[in-house]
Amino acid sequence: MTDTLHSPYVYFSCQHGAEATIKAQLCEPEGPYRLSFSQKGFVTLKSELDTPAWSRSLPQSPLIRACGHALGKFDGDNSTELIDQILNQYLSYDWECLHVWQRDVAQPGWNGFEPGRSVLAESIAEQFQKALLARNDPRSQTVNSIAKVGTKLLEVILLEPNRWWVAAKPVQTESDGWPGGVYAVPIPENMISRAYLKISEAIPWSRLPFQPGDRVVEIGSSPGGACQRLLDLGAQVVGIDPADMDDSIAGNPRFEHWRSKSQQVKRRLFKTFRYLICDANVAPNYTLDTVEAIVTYPTSKFRGLILTIKLSTWEHAKEIPQHLERVRAWGFDRVEARQLAHNRREYCLVAERTVG
Ligand SMILES: C[S@@+](CC[C@H](N)C(=O)[O-])C[C@H]1O[C@@H](n2cnc3c(N)ncnc32)[C@H](O)[C@@H]1O
Repeated sequence: MTDTLHSPYVYFSCQHGAEATIKAQLCEPEGPYRLSFSQKGFVTLKSELDTPAWSRSLPQSPLIRACGHALGKFDGDNSTELIDQILNQYLSYDWECLHVWQRDVAQPGWNGFEPGRSVLAESIAEQFQKALLARNDPRSQTVNSIAKVGTKLLEVILLEPNRWWVAAKPVQTESDGWPGGVYAVPIPENMISRAYLKISEAIPWSRLPFQPGDRVVEIGSSPGGACQRLLDLGAQVVGIDPADMDDSIAGNPRFEHWRSKSQQVKRRLFKTFRYLICDANVAPNYTLDTVEAIVTYPTSKFRGLILTIKLSTWEHAKEIPQHLERVRAWGFDRVEARQLAHNRREYCLVAERTVG
């Protein structure tokens, strides 16, 4: 094995529409990169340095879904030939896991599109697995498996069916280890709303130690997609929303509906909850004011928060650091932001109180 993969290029993937905001933050004169190539949902940038493939120095932004060191582009109409070329070039390097995924073709939720569910990527991943098996390479078992932190990852990114990029990165966080940075939850037939997907992704990303039986309150709970997932996980759930809940949620013995706006609920009633989730379709400051009034009330004992913060324009993403600072000031020592793959023009803020 050799370990000499280097590249001056990095790539990032993101939701359609977020590219310009991220580029403005990372490219000169603000940041260290120059723009190289840009397509909806996938951008490459050039730096001054020829960086090793396993270097941990990669661009950071809450709007970035995945990023890595971009190694090369492969064009062609025949997938068998492309796979041969890629394996001939990269087989001898010391990567440990292979991910094959496709750039988003639309915004999440548009016409049923959801990131990370691509028939094309699945089929190419299967072909890579067979080609690695045929070469007696044990890494055939790793194709599109979830990679642990520390794993050296090789990625094949399908920009178009006939244009693929190869990239590499060390897995540094939980979400780096998901193919394309997407936690692809199985979609139940009776899914009540897309909020089911958002919370299913938010929970593993948040690293909050949810346990069956935990008491969870959701502000903005109607019609009940998030509650559906929380109930599936065994939580005791209270949903606060003036609007109706789906019958299947309203009738669940572990669910209670407080039909009102959250501001009308007495704050001492929140004292028994361990986690607070907020998914109200209101402006960021309204969400933060509402949640602050609840979690800073003397009898509240929240261990963790998962807040969906709406971005009325992409420009508002600049305010994310201030949002994080504000939540930290409420006594949460781990506060992080990420635009989840299943978020629309919004992002997820997680806060955890690990001490006290
Ligand atoms: C995006 S929907 C929530 C989807 C829901 N989380 C689910 O799982 O299906 C937003 C909801 O926020 C509710 N909402 C807005 N402001 C609110 C407030 N101050 N208190 C409680 N609910 C509120 C709306 O009535 C609406 O049902």
